[in-house]
Amino acid sequence: MEYILDTANIADIKHCNEFYPLTGVTTNPSIIAKEKRDFWAIIKDIRDIIGPDKILFAQTVQKTADKIVEEAKLLNEKSGGNFGVKIPIDEEGLKATMALNKLGIKVLMTAIFTPAQALIAAKAGADYVAPYVNRLDNIIGDGTEVVAEIVEQFAIHGMTCKVLAASFKNAEQVHRCAAAGCQCVTVSADILKAVISHPMTDAAIAGFDKDWKGVYADKTILDF
Ligand code: G3P
Repeated sequence: MEYILDTANIADIKHCNEFYPLTGVTTNPSIIAKEKRDFWAIIKDIRDIIGPDKILFAQTVQKTADKIVEEAKLLNEKSGGNFGVKIPIDEEGLKATMALNKLGIKVLMTAIFTPAQALIAAKAGADYVAPYVNRLDNIIGDGTEVVAEIVEQFAIHGMTCKVLAASFKNAEQVHRCAAAGCQCVTVSADILKAVISHPMTDAAIAGFDKDWKGVYADKTILDF
């Protein structure tokens, strides 16, 4: 299971890269635009934090296959390490994916809402597909069920493409996707925190502290 951070916010990336077992960072045009800064400065700052080995995803803003490939090559060259280009699924995106696959540039086909879209993206050579869980839930779909169907279809058809589930609003959605066997989730800093949080955990920690301090006061193991 890979945990990826879905943000271009430098403070969040610094924090989560230090405290969580992240394998990379995903961005998209909306996420980048939120920062209101120079695009390449954002990419450089993210790379400086995560280092060359963790994967950084940035999305093309081009609309034709040729231009998508051109932009992907530039992004790959300038991203300073392990990189994947995000391409929304449509005909031009599929054509670009087939070309980029031949060039050895990793593709994450994004804005996936059905298992059928995911399967054809994988067939075109996408290394990852990103189904949008919460956006499906918002329209009375079942995002985690779609993720489960994609995982199952990839297994049936022997696809090596990874399922990178995206668009989360709570820890339960993350848990259901993991249980369905998706290989990666991309989440915000808030969702990562929600994943590790539980009121019973807080109560357990408070109990340990109270019992220890009742006998040893402020002494720690280091003081014995
Ligand atoms: O990057 C794609 C995905 O993570 C979008 O999430 O929260 O905008 O639905 P959201």
